[in-house]
Amino acid sequence: MSDTLPPIGPASVVVVSGGSRGLGLAIVEDILAQGAKVAAFARTVTPELEQLATDHPDSVVAAAVDITDNKAVAAFLKQVEATLGPIDALVNNAAAGQDSLHVHTSPENIARIIDTNLTAPLLLTRAVLRRIMAKGNRGRIVMVTSVCAQRGYSGLVAYSATKGGLDSAMRTLAREMHGRALVNSVAPGFFASEMSSVLGQTQLDTITRRTPSGRLVEPTNIVPVVHSLLFDDTNINGQVITVDGGGSI
Ligand SMILES: NC(=O)c1ccc[n+]([C@@H]2O[C@H](COP(=O)([O-])OP(=O)(O)OC[C@H]3O[C@@H](n4cnc5c(N)ncnc54)[C@H](OP(=O)(O)O)[C@@H]3O)[C@@H](O)[C@H]2O)c1
Repeated sequence: MSDTLPPIGPASVVVVSGGSRGLGLAIVEDILAQGAKVAAFARTVTPELEQLATDHPDSVVAAAVDITDNKAVAAFLKQVEATLGPIDALVNNAAAGQDSLHVHTSPENIARIIDTNLTAPLLLTRAVLRRIMAKGNRGRIVMVTSVCAQRGYSGLVAYSATKGGLDSAMRTLAREMHGRALVNSVAPGFFASEMSSVLGQTQLDTITRRTPSGRLVEPTNIVPVVHSLLFDDTNINGQVITVDGGGSI
């Protein structure tokens, strides 16, 4: 690696997968508030994301892209570079949820979850890192994974496998990039969103009771951690940072 590379600076153009709602949208809003540029995609562009793009045409790119569609993702990255400039960070946030026992989950559904949550993020990460390296820059990668990768949760076998896979890939990538990028995971505990709306009140009460901090996680608890990994001079690299009120300890 050349010593003439610039030091890893704060991200200035960040791609956020699944930035249309829930945690992803909160991350997009935070990046914008920081004064950086952000490119967000999901299969559907929500009115909230559309509004951000309309209000900030020079700082926000939003598009309807399925992360499993490699050609569409490649075209999106080109569009982002043409509009916002060189990409220097990625938040791998898009994911498909699961709510079915492994023995009752169809092979097709298992394949879809792995494709969406593991294969596609790895390909997107590869594409972004190649662009960062081609520009002679350094970058930052944040994987949004889950405590499910560390603790067992019934009904989330394939989902947990993908999150654990991303955590493992993250560690190896941090070593492999050898200073060309800081690569980390943020692993939230349960928080309310469209994905987690399948949980009933009894399950929520159980999770809350088992959480030492006494309250469920909210996106506002997770966003500052992602923010720091994107923008601060932390030198945190190859780590899984769990945000779950201590529920997994
Ligand atoms: N909610 C929780 O309790 C919880 C706990 C731990 C970790 N997480 C993780 O946190 C992250 C955000 O989850 P969330 O709860 O905010 O979920 P969410 O509200 O369901 O949002 C998921 C986002 O990903 C997008 N997405 C899903 N499939 C996609 C695809 N094939 N291509 C492109 N975009 C796709 C969705 O938009 P479209 O559907 O329009 O594509 C949406 O923007 C995920 O990685 C999730 O695994 C969540």
